[in-house]
This record gives sequence, C-alpha cells and structure tokens, in this order.
Amino acid sequence: MPATTQPTPSTASFDVEALREEFPALSQDVYEDTPLAYLDNAATSQKPTPVIERLNRFYGEENSNVHRGVHRLSQDATEAYEGARTSLAHLLNAPHKDQVIFTRGTTEGLNLIASTFGEMVVGEGDEILLTEMEHHSNIVPWQMLAEQVGASIEVLPVTDRGALRMDLLPEMLTDDTALLAFTHVSNTLGTVNPAQDLIDVAHAEGVPVVVDGAQSAPHMPVDVQALDADFFVFSGHKMFGPTGIGVCYGKREHLEAMPPYQGGGDMIDQVSFEETTYDGLPHKFEAGTPNIADAIGLGEAAEYVMDLEWEAVQAHEDAVLEYATERVEAVEGTRIIGTASDKTSVLSFVFDDIHPYDAGTVLDREGVAVRTGHHCTQPLLKRYDLPGTIRASFAAYNTREDVDCLIDGLHKVRQMFG
Ligand code: ALA
Repeated sequence: MPATTQPTPSTASFDVEALREEFPALSQDVYEDTPLAYLDNAATSQKPTPVIERLNRFYGEENSNVHRGVHRLSQDATEAYEGARTSLAHLLNAPHKDQVIFTRGTTEGLNLIASTFGEMVVGEGDEILLTEMEHHSNIVPWQMLAEQVGASIEVLPVTDRGALRMDLLPEMLTDDTALLAFTHVSNTLGTVNPAQDLIDVAHAEGVPVVVDGAQSAPHMPVDVQALDADFFVFSGHKMFGPTGIGVCYGKREHLEAMPPYQGGGDMIDQVSFEETTYDGLPHKFEAGTPNIADAIGLGEAAEYVMDLEWEAVQAHEDAVLEYATERVEAVEGTRIIGTASDKTSVLSFVFDDIHPYDAGTVLDREGVAVRTGHHCTQPLLKRYDLPGTIRASFAAYNTREDVDCLIDGLHKVRQMFG
C-alpha cells in the first residue's frame, strides 16, 4: 500500500475535481486547518450549486401555492412543481408523470404504500416477506400493518458476507405471501441486491413487490418499467436533492385502486358534509399544500443526475470503494462487515473492540465525517452480533484523498484507544 496516494484520475467524461467545485459544502474546513472529508453520503449527500440556486430562485421569485391561484406566481409555481414531477418521471423512466407521487421521503413512501395498498392486499394469516438487511423504514410500517390485519412478517436471511440467501427465496414465497418488500442497496453493507431476480421470482408467484431505492437511486440509473417494480420509493436528499422530499412511484392500476393516504385540500374533487369524492392521480395522494420548493429542488437534482455520465461515475465510485476497502483492510485490527460480490458505495467495518462512537468522535476531529452505530438496521447488526459499525459511504464527488484522510484518522483512533 503506498504511503501517499496517487491523485484520483479523471477521465475524459468525468472530472471529479470539476464535480467537487459544484458542491460548496465540500471545500470547507470543519475545524481550524482541518478540511472536510465527507464520507456520510448514505445518510445524506451534499447539494450542488444548481439545486441550491433553484431553491433560492423559487423563494426569491416564484414563491406561491400550487394548483390554487389564477395569479401569475401561482401559475409559475404550479408549472415548476409539475415540471419537477416530469423530471422525476424521466429519471425513473415511469410511463407517466401521474405515477410519481411526492412524499417526505422513503419513510413516508413506505408508510403510504403499507397503509393503502398494504391494507388492500394483506389480510389475516397472510405473510409479508422482507429481508434481513432492511432498514427500519422498511420494517416498521409492515409490522404495524401486520399487527393491524393479523398477518406475519417473514424474513429472507443474509449470508455471512452480506448477500441475500436467494436460494431460499422460492421456498419462502408461499401461498400465503401477500407482498415482498426489499432494499435495492443495503445502507449498512453496500450490497446491491439482484432486484430483477427478486421481482421476477415474486411475480411468477403472483406476489407484488415494493423496492426501497433510498440507497440505489443515488448510485445507478433506475428503470421502473424494465424492473417491473410494483412500487419504487426513494428520498431526494441522498441524491443531491433537498431534505423532506422524496418519491413514491407505483403502477397505475395499483395507484388507481388504492384509497387516499391522507385527507385534506388538493386531493379532493367535490366535498360536502355528506360525501367527498377524490381527485385523480397524482393529487389523490398529495393532501394539503405540498413541499413545493423542495419538490422543485428535487426536480433540479434529477436533471443534474441525468446529466452525469453514469458509466464514468460508476467506474469512479467503484474505484474509490475498492481503494478504500484495500486501505481499511490494511489497517491492523479492522474487519469489514459486508463483503458481497456486488457492492456499491458503502464500507462498514469494526476496529478491534473500539466502540464505533469513540472512533467516530476522533475521526470527526480529523475532519472525517462518517456514520457510526446501527445505521437504523438493528436486526441486521444483531445477525452479525455487533452493536454497530463505522460506516464510510461515498458519492460521485469523493476521492482517494478522502479515503487517505479516513486512514490517517484511523491511525489517530488507534493511538488514542489502541
Ligand atoms: N438510512 C440512513 C442511513 O443509512 C439515514 O444513514
């Protein structure tokens, strides 16, 4: 392992230094003379200037409510909000923008599906099949539904390396399985799950599938039609967009059959005290004044992501992950958690018996932002008999130099606690 790294190479189609310049937060010192090495992208990514400027422009020039006013600003805001929906539909290759529902994020998307579609298709005695690597957002809403209707939760296990036990899938899809929900990419292990296989096998048994794309949307192109996903949810803030906004995509026949999620303004057709009729898609699922600015910001982020050269970005991200894996492995006392053959952007590890929070605190003083703990995946950590891990998670703008800062920081951790 070289003592000093080679600068991260740029390719003709992907210049990482140019990309970094578009993310103002990356160039700051977090303590005196301590530049930031931001390696917490699975929790949230930094935002590029076009997204920040789009939010400013909305509040500075267009701020108004949508779908309500005949005045100029309301028309501008409505056009921008619905234009954002179109951008998101393009990002996902959704057949129609009406199948893109704005939510607060992945968690709200999953709650929406559980309490509408879930209540329609899951009944007493049925099974909801999840995987052992789900984060709490893709466990708890299903547990709440299961309790309510008298169904049970079944769990597809993971291997020691952190891959799904796909060999067990056919036998776990029983006549009672009413729904399969799984994460496309694990936030704790970095495992990329075989989404197409999971969906195909479930559909062959007539089981609808919900895909949690919180960690995949930022790292790979997603085509919901090719996948044939019944639902696909993700958050904007992990994909260079604002917090508090995300998307729930669904197949039209499901969305049309589903009852509304919440009641209020903007989701109705006619209201009287005797009876209310509901609006069509997508408004049926967007009660009340929506998060207009952040939806528009997310639309900008979607356009930004679609402009990236994905092949080059993915090659870069894979190279940084590989470099980080080699360098962390070379630090005495580390053990990587999650070594599946197909991984992206996440490196979780333990470091002797040093508590992850202690390591995270020392790393922070060195300017290195990582997440430590259970990463909202307590059942998965229990599977590996761990209270938590240190997790470095990467985005397109990370470099080998960021990894070097992590390694230098780990040596400091060793000095303090080793
Ligand atoms: N689920 C997010 C993470 O992995 C918050 O950090």
